[in-house]
Amino acid sequence: MEVVIAPAEELALLAADHIDKLLRRKPDAVLGLATGSSPLKVYDELARRHTEEGLSFAQARGFMLDEYVGLPADHPERYRNVIEKEIASRVGWAPEQVQGPDGLAEDLEEACVRYEQAIVDAGGVDVQILGIGTDGHIAFNEPGSSLASRTRIKTLTAQTREDNARFFDGDLDKVPVHCLTQGLGTIMSARHLVLLATGKQKAEAVHQLVEGPVSAMWPATIMQMHQHATVLIDDAAASRLQLADYYRQTYATKPAWQGL
Ligand code: F6R
Repeated sequence: MEVVIAPAEELALLAADHIDKLLRRKPDAVLGLATGSSPLKVYDELARRHTEEGLSFAQARGFMLDEYVGLPADHPERYRNVIEKEIASRVGWAPEQVQGPDGLAEDLEEACVRYEQAIVDAGGVDVQILGIGTDGHIAFNEPGSSLASRTRIKTLTAQTREDNARFFDGDLDKVPVHCLTQGLGTIMSARHLVLLATGKQKAEAVHQLVEGPVSAMWPATIMQMHQHATVLIDDAAASRLQLADYYRQTYATKPAWQGL
């Protein structure tokens, strides 16, 4: 696991550079897309490069991590709509180039199976962008999630619903209770995981992710078992790390030829 500690703007540029290089090397790359605030600066930078530097997403595809169950199709906080607004529409993606779990399906279990198959049919995810919840969730794999889980329905914790109430006029009652989410096993099948986290409120979750024991109580810790996981964090999110100085030194002396 590589840990990079840098200001938020620099982290976003690092992630965007990495995706830029991937798309130029493999134009039909499959990108794993997170919602929430953590990846927004990365999406801004990718959109800028698309518009100003001709970075093409024409052959690329995107797969979302998760979706609320039951939000109406036109609800602005439905993750499909958020992804459309924050990235898909800005890089010229047609609707069929981006897929997510169908939180409006009549048969939710079948929708989850279909989604897993769609990812496999696309050849798997090349780079999965991730954020982390204050309780250590990735996608919506809440504490207690099976470390081998695949896409399925989950119940959001009170903590996550409180954290996300800011997107629903601060009204907890408006935050859905259920979601469909890629499982930890699904996420682990991606070829490269890139997690972004900023701010003090993420410090404990980041400490557990990087330095804690692998445990379903802190679902993101499964990333320690991935062969290629990159953790991009600012000083505040790094503030509880025991080995922060070592991660800083490692990054400062990293060979120039080695990308993320
Ligand atoms: C969203 C997702 C979540 C968020 C996490 C952090 O698709 O999968 O795991 O990444 O809740 O959210 P932010 O980035 O808003 O702090």
